[in-house]
Amino acid sequence: MQQKNMHSILLSLWFILIEGVIQLQASHYHWVVTEAPYTRLCGTKSILTVNGQFPGPTIYTHKGETVVVEVVNRSKHNITLHWHGVKQPRNPWSDGPEYITQCPIKPGGRFTQTVILSLEEGTLWWHAHNEWTRATVYGAIIIYPKPGTFYPFQKPDLEVPLLLGEWWKRDIFEIYEEFRATGGSPNVSDAYTINGQPGDLYPCSKAETFKVRVQYGKTILLRIINAAVNQILFLAIKNHSITLVGTDGEYTKPFTSDYITIAPGETMDVLVHANQLPGRYYMAARAYSSGINVDFDNTTTTAVIEYEGVNLNASSTLSLPYLPAYNDTNASYSFTSSLRSLASKDHPVNVPLKVNHRIFSTVSVNALPCPANRTCEGINGTRFAASMNNISFVLPDIDILQAYYYHIKGVYGKKFPKFPPLPFNYTAEFQDLALEVSKHSTQVRIFKFNSTIEIVLQGTNLVAGLDHPMHIHGQSFYVVGYGYGNFDKNNDPKNYNLVDPPLQNTVIVPRNGWATIRFKAHNPGVWYVHCHLERHVTWGMMTTLIVKDGKDPESQMLPPPPDMPPC
Ligand code: C2O
Ligand code: CU
Repeated sequence: MQQKNMHSILLSLWFILIEGVIQLQASHYHWVVTEAPYTRLCGTKSILTVNGQFPGPTIYTHKGETVVVEVVNRSKHNITLHWHGVKQPRNPWSDGPEYITQCPIKPGGRFTQTVILSLEEGTLWWHAHNEWTRATVYGAIIIYPKPGTFYPFQKPDLEVPLLLGEWWKRDIFEIYEEFRATGGSPNVSDAYTINGQPGDLYPCSKAETFKVRVQYGKTILLRIINAAVNQILFLAIKNHSITLVGTDGEYTKPFTSDYITIAPGETMDVLVHANQLPGRYYMAARAYSSGINVDFDNTTTTAVIEYEGVNLNASSTLSLPYLPAYNDTNASYSFTSSLRSLASKDHPVNVPLKVNHRIFSTVSVNALPCPANRTCEGINGTRFAASMNNISFVLPDIDILQAYYYHIKGVYGKKFPKFPPLPFNYTAEFQDLALEVSKHSTQVRIFKFNSTIEIVLQGTNLVAGLDHPMHIHGQSFYVVGYGYGNFDKNNDPKNYNLVDPPLQNTVIVPRNGWATIRFKAHNPGVWYVHCHLERHVTWGMMTTLIVKDGKDPESQMLPPPPDMPPC
């Protein structure tokens, strides 16, 4: 008890210290991480949750506000929580990724996290950020415009968060451990879910299928979040087109399409007009899986849009909307490359035109020799890995942020390369097997405050060419270009969009193609960069950027809160 008092005194001191820095019109949430039984697909299992809820609680806030979340871990597992897409200016301490910015909150532990919103507006989400705990520990963050300001589109009559997820019948910790032990691919999920429900097409699910009730003539704002563990998804609604108006907590030019492609990590705000014959219509999501011979969950999750006043007994059979084929890379690419920033007076674009640092990084799947006296289930008896610039990132035992702040040596190296160690024809059909082997290491890249950075992310055809949704913490970036094949440094930059590129926190690097992003590093801290497919994270497809403090106090990291979880 005494210890707890001491704790809260220190915390209030910390808040006084950082007050003025942030606007502490903070809403306060009290979250308990706990196991809870959930029944899906005809079976019950215990899952990790926040407050017993699945999906977890929604955070409602306004642009520029600060949210304080007091996290208490009453489960038997370690946990960390991350606020995906929230930039957390000067405050990497509450960002959440395990061993990057904190050590996990152990069973019985607690941590008060300060979530500082700044420019974000629209929909983001939060999720657990250690091992595969995010499979069940996730929820929406809804950020309304500042009071007195409005959406840059027609006000919707109805707003509905739509969280897409993945469900395994077996315990997710078992799936994860088995995956690590075998060196092969993980077991694919048994279902996709919409707001935690698989939907009509799965056994024992129909009664609980998620439904949106709407009046004819009204407009719905769907806040769609892909919280799936390992799968990019296509989503469509029978007979209704979808108008994208925002992504990743930023507005876009309205773009109307019959379907969307949404990768884990991405959020999309879309308008749907209930202008069809009053009735019941499926919305459906299923995999976009581009890798040849890559196993995936080939099932379809559904929810229902139901017009008010329709006779539910007149058993109209529902039919599925058209969805692109699971391997339709062109469908995915054409949707993704159509996103544009709103670029209006109130929502201007600020793409860096002058670049201080250029990085060219491969994103690859790798295959390593199996250690002696083990059997590995990767391709031809190898053990799978994944890398950026041929380094499979190894998580250290204490977090990089702490090591950086307190100058603890030997935790990480500063040599994440600006270029692949050995250039090759990245997207050729046949690859030299020797190139499949990556190095294991913990290497970061350090930048001066306010430098402008361009990163070309180059997919490769090593082991399997496939799409990678690459995500960066602590900043959003402009996606200035995309292409298939090898990036051509002489010609491709000529086609960069420097006028209205979308501002995102996650970008899909197309299968055997590339994407170029640009941003200004004006957020001092330690920021994780990783593929948002969890199996690739486990294999090492990630790195870390450190942005140094600037000269004046307003461009420096905040001091650490007093209750950082001990390592
Ligand atoms: Cu959705 Cu590292 O995060
Ligand atoms: Cu990946």
